Amino acid sequence: MKTIKLDIIDSTNTYLKENRSIFEDFTFVRANFQSSGKGREDRKWISPKNENLLFSILIKDKNVIKNFKALSIATATLIARFLEILGLENVMVKWPNDVYANGKKICGVLLEGNVKQYIVIGVGLNVNQKQFLGDYKITPTSISNELSKDLDINKLSFNLFKFLDKHLHQKLLARNTLRFYKKHDYFLGKFVETKNGNGFVKGITDEFDLIVDKEVISSGEINFKEND
Ligand code: BTN
Repeated sequence: MKTIKLDIIDSTNTYLKENRSIFEDFTFVRANFQSSGKGREDRKWISPKNENLLFSILIKDKNVIKNFKALSIATATLIARFLEILGLENVMVKWPNDVYANGKKICGVLLEGNVKQYIVIGVGLNVNQKQFLGDYKITPTSISNELSKDLDINKLSFNLFKFLDKHLHQKLLARNTLRFYKKHDYFLGKFVETKNGNGFVKGITDEFDLIVDKEVISSGEINFKEND
């Protein structure tokens, strides 16, 4: 594992994608600030300087890439496990790539790349941010809001990177992820609207696809909105 720390960059995902030929497998890039942070579905990921963890991981190992359908959920699930170890309560994984704490979003994952060559896993984890001004569709939270104390971001990132490096390499990643996910399934039993209709979420398949009544939604087609 190699770790690079940048002060300001457009996006750690873009940086790793552009420099993927010179960086080794499992290079972690972290930034204090992103001027063009990207979220899913062309949204922006805005985060004040030095308050949160913004990082990306370059994956070149074919044995890890072959799990690409599980990688987004696996990363979110590993972060959920890490947050539980830190002492956060009511941590849930929201298929296919968000982590919630007490019903609020604390972390988002954005996967980019080309499954034949490489994958970049981007993670935005709210750490010390207290106030979230702006128009959020989903109420955000942070570790410090949940634990009522500030954390040392350098220490936290060191421990989290070690944890992710260890577990993302695991042969049983998909199986263990599935097991943890099922116990921390944010969507289970919820009524959601999908592209083809709506229904209650029954869980996920062993291939990490979402089951909504009789419909199976692949993690590749995740364009649906939740009806709370
Ligand atoms: C989401 O929409 O929930 C995913 C957000 C992912 C944000 C992270 S921050 C680090 C990395 N670089 C980016 O530009 N985006 C991801």
